[in-house]
Amino acid sequence: MRYLSGIQPSGVLHIGNYFGAMRRQVARQSEHECFYFIADYHALTTVRDPDALRQNVLDVALDYLAIGLDPSRTVFFRQSDVPEVVELSWILSTITSMGLLERCHSYKDKVARNIEATHGLFSYPVLMAADILIYDSERVPVGKDQKQHIEVTRDIAGTFNTLYGETLVIPEPEIEESTAVVPGVDGQKMSKSYGNTIEMFSPEKKVRKAVASIVTDSKTVEEPKEPEGNIILALYSLVATPEEKAEMARRLRAGGYGYGDAKKELATKLLEHFGPARERREELARDLPRVKDILEDGARRARAVASRTLERVYQRVGLR
Ligand code: TRP
Repeated sequence: MRYLSGIQPSGVLHIGNYFGAMRRQVARQSEHECFYFIADYHALTTVRDPDALRQNVLDVALDYLAIGLDPSRTVFFRQSDVPEVVELSWILSTITSMGLLERCHSYKDKVARNIEATHGLFSYPVLMAADILIYDSERVPVGKDQKQHIEVTRDIAGTFNTLYGETLVIPEPEIEESTAVVPGVDGQKMSKSYGNTIEMFSPEKKVRKAVASIVTDSKTVEEPKEPEGNIILALYSLVATPEEKAEMARRLRAGGYGYGDAKKELATKLLEHFGPARERREELARDLPRVKDILEDGARRARAVASRTLERVYQRVGLR
């Protein structure tokens, strides 16, 4: 089964990204053929600072390689290294109705959040359809927010096949519903846009500071505390064993154990959990030519598939 997913390089990744999606993406590589790419063309719809874009792409590449993406197994590349996808996107746009795109929530949400209503933002789902279809992807694992985009992709592929004959593989979405909702330091879902994240690979001090900022009630050290719904414990359970989790819950309930103590334990555990990945990341960051090679090799492998699909499409529509 060929899995494909795109990752927007929109900033430093946090533990919500990791436990929400990245961990599973990496686990999947042992059973399936995976194509994962860094969606830099898409990022242009929101990132206007060239240095920031370059940095974000590099950061995402380092983060994924650090947490165990295996480039000998998985085809890992940068979207813009396979420009064929833009050619396919244009062809698809000529058979995509305005109405289909006008119904997309993601576009409307972004405009409501004051992102400029450009043509690129509007046609974002067509480029995404091209991303998926050009690699004959069978499964697209995405979060709930992207479900509609996969439906648009299926719709576009179906229209193409009806007009020109069976050409494109219709992909199945794999919606990650059961994904753990990771609370941020304020108790809302951890998200960069809420400013409540704990970053995976920021310096130790910064991780400790983020953990220290977790919101709690004002119970004193002596008072017994309710473990249920406690943000510190919820985050701790992501990285602790069930026994360790039970032990922290017991201590909270017993009293004489402060939120400050629990936060210290959580921070230490998080740093320990991501320690080996952090070391790999630092090592890779000292060897950027290697990272560049990995992405170039991924692009070569991706391009081989993409150019075959595009050739098929060119024949079908009469451009060849
Ligand atoms: N739109 C996706 C997101 O914001 C990223 C993306 C771009 C993508 N192209 C894709 C995801 C193709 C899956 C398949 O998360």
